[in-house]
Amino acid sequence: MPTVLITGANRGIGLELARAYAADGWEVIGTCRKPDVASALKAVGGVEVLPLDVTDAASVAALSKTLQGRKIDLLLNNAGVNYRSGTLAEIDYDLWARTMDANVFGPMRVCDALTNNVLASDRKQMAFISSKMGSIAECGGGSYTYRSSKTALNMAVKCLSLEFAGKGLTALMFHPGHVRTDMGGASAPVLPTESAAGIKSVLDGATASDNGRFYNYDGTALPW
Ligand SMILES: NC(=O)c1ccc[n+]([C@@H]2O[C@H](COP(=O)([O-])OP(=O)(O)OC[C@H]3O[C@@H](n4cnc5c(N)ncnc54)[C@H](OP(=O)(O)O)[C@@H]3O)[C@@H](O)[C@H]2O)c1
Repeated sequence: MPTVLITGANRGIGLELARAYAADGWEVIGTCRKPDVASALKAVGGVEVLPLDVTDAASVAALSKTLQGRKIDLLLNNAGVNYRSGTLAEIDYDLWARTMDANVFGPMRVCDALTNNVLASDRKQMAFISSKMGSIAECGGGSYTYRSSKTALNMAVKCLSLEFAGKGLTALMFHPGHVRTDMGGASAPVLPTESAAGIKSVLDGATASDNGRFYNYDGTALPW
């Protein structure tokens, strides 16, 4: 069976993605910052739990070493943060830098470290949980820091998709919906199970023509 590696798999959308792929018989590597307390992830049958903080270069290097020679069909970059930010005057520049580190530099570090594992696989897919809040076309204002991090992620992934297209890589970006998680809030309309199932369905059917595309979790194309 194919192998998927999911970042931030201990809760929220990442945990539900781990459950969805495990239920479909995939080999699942679920990464998280604190494996010792990742009880929900460990309870998913057959999942291999490994430590990873995407903002820590040493942690990324250690994961790469652990996985040396292993094929990864799908690298699912899900981990992210959303520190609330309001108006221009309210911006906390330290939090903005930490947001960029987790949401942009983090996934790119992980991709760089695991590119060979993905390119050695049959599927050669990378997916990135971005956000519609990163869409400039659909911007309703506010949330400077989170919005700009997801816009930057989309551009970085677009560059990645072009750099590795000739090697057969397919890289897709997703808005997961407004999902009922710690980040999305208790009244968010989309359940984590619906979001994960939608993303998995799009990825299951993805072809080379989807490389560098930005989709809603239901497969609808989104504007940049
Ligand atoms: N929920 C929504 O409505 C929504 C909408 C649009 C986009 N998204 C995106 O979807 C993704 C998942 O969101 P979610 O709703 O599931 O959020 P969540 O419930 O807050 O979970 C976030 C996950 O990311 C992990 N994480 C944060 N910083 C990390 C780091 N430095 N290294 C490794 N893991 C880290 C967290 O680990 P810890 O438990 O260790 O903190 C947790 O597993 C994010 O990229 C988010 O931006 C969510």
